[in-house]
Amino acid sequence: MNSIPHALRSTHVLLVDTDSNHCSEVTDQLSQRQFHVSTVASATEAIQLTSNQRCDAAVLFCDELEPQVLDDLRHLQSAHASLQVIVVSTTTSITAAVEAMKAGACDFLTKPISPNALALAIQTAGTNRPRCTHTACSQPAVVREKKNKTSILGKSAAIDSVLQWIARVAPSEMPVLIEGESGTGKELVAREIHAASNVADQALVTINCAAVPASLLESELFGHEKGSFTGAIATKRGLFETADGGTLFIDEFGELAGDLQAKLLRVIEDGRLRRVGSTEERQVNVRLIAATNKTLIDEVRSGRFREDLFYRVNVLGARLPSLRERTEDIGLLAQHFLGEGWVLGDGVLELLQRYTWPGNVRQLSNVMERCKVLAGQPGIIAIDDLPSEIVDASDQQQLEIGGNVDLHTLNRSHVLKVLKQNRGNKAKSARVLGINRRSLYRLLEKYNAKHSA
Ligand SMILES: Nc1ncnc2c1ncn2[C@@H]1O[C@H](COP(=O)(O)OP(=O)(O)OP(=O)(O)O)[C@@H](O)[C@H]1O
Ligand SMILES: [Mg+2]
Repeated sequence: MNSIPHALRSTHVLLVDTDSNHCSEVTDQLSQRQFHVSTVASATEAIQLTSNQRCDAAVLFCDELEPQVLDDLRHLQSAHASLQVIVVSTTTSITAAVEAMKAGACDFLTKPISPNALALAIQTAGTNRPRCTHTACSQPAVVREKKNKTSILGKSAAIDSVLQWIARVAPSEMPVLIEGESGTGKELVAREIHAASNVADQALVTINCAAVPASLLESELFGHEKGSFTGAIATKRGLFETADGGTLFIDEFGELAGDLQAKLLRVIEDGRLRRVGSTEERQVNVRLIAATNKTLIDEVRSGRFREDLFYRVNVLGARLPSLRERTEDIGLLAQHFLGEGWVLGDGVLELLQRYTWPGNVRQLSNVMERCKVLAGQPGIIAIDDLPSEIVDASDQQQLEIGGNVDLHTLNRSHVLKVLKQNRGNKAKSARVLGINRRSLYRLLEKYNAKHSA
């Protein structure tokens, strides 16, 4: 599985790099891996060279993804629309990746990059042709068709780039890494990738590394022979064998112990595995999707995760945006979770958009469920129905930016009148008064008017 096919061994690669030392180092590494390598120092030279020499893919090395780099990318793309350009930069942000993709890059990788990871990216670039060039609007129709069927909701640019990424990686056989905070939709995305893959009609098998005791994980993944350990009363095939021909989704991938990481690398590299207690090697053909809510490169840096395995799975990796990075999707998602017959009352959306959502989409889903049960008025989610942490967070923010009403200008009778009008509801009263809830409490303490809520 996933070894470089013969047909691609003569891929012509063009390296674009101003650093000639780095360039010759990479040339050596790629030449050893049977690529034909040419090198130039600028995009202009690249355009000249590609106009009279075969070139299947170009790798554009840069530090930060500056506007100049994007311009170079666009020029290269307009000169040779079919050229696959991979950008390798020091930038790690998803926004930068989106920018690069929009400018026509087929892949976006982060420095430092291992020779194997780079070789794989070039290989994928080769196998993914023909491809979409330039902006999102020139995507092939098939991509749009799949997009329309997606269960992944959102209209933000961040979600759009996730959908584009899914469409790009799904047809590949290579492993995929999905990073993202808890509740950002990693499992949903994994299912979507499988559903859009060439093995969609085959099994999607899932395992959560955090849910299986470490001592049993190897046998779960690779199977075991009868009697190979206490409790192995019968021979059992592992999930890799169950998923043969289809997809294996390994969730909480960052929890995988060191010895298993090595074994996993082996299966990814050549599709071979050994059941626990067996000497026999078995061949499987499994597409691997891994997910983690850790930042795996940090785990690599701290020595907890194998670098080679990381680069192997991260070639097609992406980080899903948190909900607070795409607040424009909150209304849509909230409405989706509420279902028909429900609306958000005055000011509710603003509060939801101001909150930080540490549990992301899952938390939003739970909050909406809870609100429906507790809603004072059926069909409407009012501010009072929201959990206090969401309202308090907003109060806290207002406190930080400084309330826009001077507390001294409010007199006691006015405050008490507003409280009465709102039947003692402090959140509502505070809003009417134009102050935050904490300030209202302070005023009430000052007036010594203990009001029954
Ligand atoms: N973009 C989205 N559109 C609609 N529903 C979503 C979206 N993202 C996530 N969800 C929903 O949010 C919930 C959490 O998603 P999911 O289980 O995929 O997250 P996760 O990243 O795997 O979380 P964890 O790290 O906690 O395992 C699910 O019910 C999922 O359907
Ligand atoms: Mg999950």
